[in-house]
Amino acid sequence: MNALHLAQNRYSTKKYQSKPIPSEKVEALKEILRLSPSSINIQPWKFTFIQDEAVKSRLAEASSFNESKIKQADLLVVFSVAEDLDAFQKVVDKELPEALRDWYNQGRASMPEAELKVWFSRQLYISLGMGLAGCAALGLDATPMEGISSDDFAQILNLTEYKPLIAMSVGFAAEDDYNRLEVVPKSRRALEEVVDSI
Ligand SMILES: Cc1cc2nc3c(=O)[nH]c(=O)nc-3n(C[C@H](O)[C@H](O)[C@H](O)COP(=O)(O)O)c2cc1C
Repeated sequence: MNALHLAQNRYSTKKYQSKPIPSEKVEALKEILRLSPSSINIQPWKFTFIQDEAVKSRLAEASSFNESKIKQADLLVVFSVAEDLDAFQKVVDKELPEALRDWYNQGRASMPEAELKVWFSRQLYISLGMGLAGCAALGLDATPMEGISSDDFAQILNLTEYKPLIAMSVGFAAEDDYNRLEVVPKSRRALEEVVDSI
């Protein structure tokens, strides 16, 4: 399938089959997320892949209306953003080339912490887009999710320096998923409303 077909055919799955994902596809998805682009290549993220049923179940119970999807799907990916700026500074100092490090350090010195964290969060959404497109390309169904409890997720996953922001369940859609495209056709605003060509 080409990129347009993938965009036309992916959708947010609401019901999954209990079918495992081949491990090479899980590994490919990890690499796709690692390769996500970000502003000044800052990469302020941690991607946690959860297939352990007991942990996945606890996370599902901290996800209100997303509970059943998380329990059914073979994989849950949690996208967490750098929260402890001093801890993340060590990553920057160790891993970013000098020019980008200087850029970041100037930004950190001049920007309120809250603004810096909003900028970090924006980068996570780029990786979510990469993840959704990557799943489609790998022949996997997925659901992006903001409906999670960040505090509960952090506690269950024992994350202290990163804060869970979004999640994505991944697997194979159930035959009777009520959100399948045959049941609920893709719905978007008209092209001419959202795209200007000059
Ligand atoms: C950032 C983001 C957060 C979302 N959160 C949820 C969610 O918590 N639960 C859910 O079932 N769908 C969630 N969705 C799915 C959207 O409702 C869905 O993408 C939108 O209605 C378009 O439908 P489609 O993805 O099937 O094309 C989310 C989508 C995005 C991009």
